[in-house]
Amino acid sequence: MSESRRQILLTSALPYANGDMHLGHMLEYIQTDIWARFQRAQGHECYFAWADDAHGTPVMLRARSEGISPEQLIARMNEEHKIDFRDFGISYDNYSSTHTDINRELVELIYQRLDEAGYIERRNIKQLYDEQEGMFLPDRFIRGTCPKCGTEDQYGDSCESCGSTYAPTDLINPRSAVSGSVPVVRESEHYFVRLSAFEGVLKTWMSSGALQPEIANKIQEWFTDGLRDWDISRDVPYFGFRIPGTEDKYFYVWVDAPVGYIASFKELCNRAGLDFDHWWKPGSATELYHFIGKDIVYFHTLFWPAMLMGSGFRTPTAVFAHGFLTVDGAKMSKSRGTFIRARTYLDHLEPDYLRYYFAAKLGPGTGDIDLNLGDFVQRVNADVVGKVVNIASRCAVFIQRSFNNKLAASLPDPALYGSFVTQRTAIAAEFEGRNFQAAMRLIMALADEANRYIDEAKPWQRIKQEGELTAVHGICTQGINLFRVLMTYLAPVLPFTAERAAMFLGRELNDWKAIDQPLLDCEIRSFTPLLTRVDPLKIEAIIEDSREAMKALEPAISESTKVLEPLAEEIGIDTFSKVDLRVALIRNAEAVAGADKLVKLTLDLGNETRTVFAGIKSAYEPADLVGRMTVMVANLKPRKMRFGMSEGMVLAASDGSGGVFILSPDSGATPGMRVT
Ligand code: 2FM
Ligand code: ZN
Repeated sequence: MSESRRQILLTSALPYANGDMHLGHMLEYIQTDIWARFQRAQGHECYFAWADDAHGTPVMLRARSEGISPEQLIARMNEEHKIDFRDFGISYDNYSSTHTDINRELVELIYQRLDEAGYIERRNIKQLYDEQEGMFLPDRFIRGTCPKCGTEDQYGDSCESCGSTYAPTDLINPRSAVSGSVPVVRESEHYFVRLSAFEGVLKTWMSSGALQPEIANKIQEWFTDGLRDWDISRDVPYFGFRIPGTEDKYFYVWVDAPVGYIASFKELCNRAGLDFDHWWKPGSATELYHFIGKDIVYFHTLFWPAMLMGSGFRTPTAVFAHGFLTVDGAKMSKSRGTFIRARTYLDHLEPDYLRYYFAAKLGPGTGDIDLNLGDFVQRVNADVVGKVVNIASRCAVFIQRSFNNKLAASLPDPALYGSFVTQRTAIAAEFEGRNFQAAMRLIMALADEANRYIDEAKPWQRIKQEGELTAVHGICTQGINLFRVLMTYLAPVLPFTAERAAMFLGRELNDWKAIDQPLLDCEIRSFTPLLTRVDPLKIEAIIEDSREAMKALEPAISESTKVLEPLAEEIGIDTFSKVDLRVALIRNAEAVAGADKLVKLTLDLGNETRTVFAGIKSAYEPADLVGRMTVMVANLKPRKMRFGMSEGMVLAASDGSGGVFILSPDSGATPGMRVT
């Protein structure tokens, strides 16, 4: 605690501006926020600044699919994200966007310096191009058959089935995920950063202790493989910053995203009168830490420090990578309802519950963190509510009833209090090392001790005994003071509960030094419940809502964008008019014994009925179809099937992944009408 005041800047990874926040994002922001609050409680000057990652193809396509401009989309997302963060208690000092003038100026400055120093190289490359959309396709927007194992419908850069990586031009039968058309190979000039020029300085930076051991090992492998040049340009159309001196080239989103760290902090400097250069000049004595997911280590430990070194800015003091969030042991799943948005969680549960659970699970390493929903309920209820909050409620009741809410003038067991304060050093060391789970264990062990003290002192018995009033006053004052110490340690994790506890105690809990002096001979407020137990039914409601929310989001462009069937060969109107489409009324519908997918339909065409076997069982209960209007191909040659003759075909839309949607005419159409 005698350490001098440090100056610390923290960032989380910038979330893409094309989607809602989910609990995977919140894991990182909560981790960063706990560390920020902890540092401030030690008296350090600590800022937390980050932003939306606003550029790139997915943002552009999402805006297009919503029929709005990218600027409108990112403005809306920025507001929504900030509300989610506020409601989760994320104490950021600035939250910006990468689409700002400050960021543009910084990106241009960094680029210009890199170019002047000879780190930028221009050369032509071949890429897949969607002629229908008039755009080059990012790897994730190309699907095709894996060249190694033959699995269909794989991304342009890697196969989910065999794990191999390849160039998009190697895919068999490639298709554009944007238009469904077959892309062609085209050449264009790209700009590259010569990363290999930084090998020596990067190695020096790494050996300064900036990386977790497992990350340092991984980077060694990359060095051994040889550093490849980094392609930093993209062709139009692209939503981003244009490269100076070009008409049609844009900075790749990963160039301006990390610069957004600097830009967001610069905004804060302008607002709060901080000295920007003091924080960002090479060799600055201030500390800079990036919290990120383990999937973006390459960007943060090679590209980013190289960009900074090559353009005269300071490098990060350390990069802290964490693992992925799983729910009930598996990747978050939209169909299981475990892909939980931040807002869905907040609709049902207190943020502090999740903050505590994440803290109880987070260590300094990159292992994945599992949100086990059953364990979550049990753990939060047992630890936070059952152990910590309980101490206050057990003691406050007597202080209020018998002592007018006034604490005693001395502690009956100052040594016990002293031992709680002494643990501060060990607990702080665990927080400092981001071993939050170890910190929580130490704090909960103290909570057990406090409860044991009250159990043994039995104030509820002694209050009824003659001459014991002063003793009870002391015991409860002791209990409340132990609670105060625990809540001070927990305040970075449980900011909302700590705020309520601060109201109750009449003292802020945001300074770890303050516990040197116990609270004696002073008034506190009447106790109101600080945190209630987690209701397991709320978990079910979250799962249910998450399933619903995902259904509604389905059409949004994302990694899971479906590949549409390529359009069939062009036909003339003469050919089309040969198809006789008619409105039909479904008179009867029944399952077909021995055929899982088929429904036998009896269709009324006005002046005749037809029997049609349709492969729609996966999407419809036969009984629900009876009485519904649809459209059929009436002049399709009857086909003999195993279960009988099929006399036509019902029209249905399908996305090739199980969704089937029968077409219906608007009301007013009658059976037998021709559809043209
Ligand atoms: O992976 C991602 O979600 C990126 N949007 C992270 C960017 S972090 C930084 F470099 F800005
Ligand atoms: Zn494969």
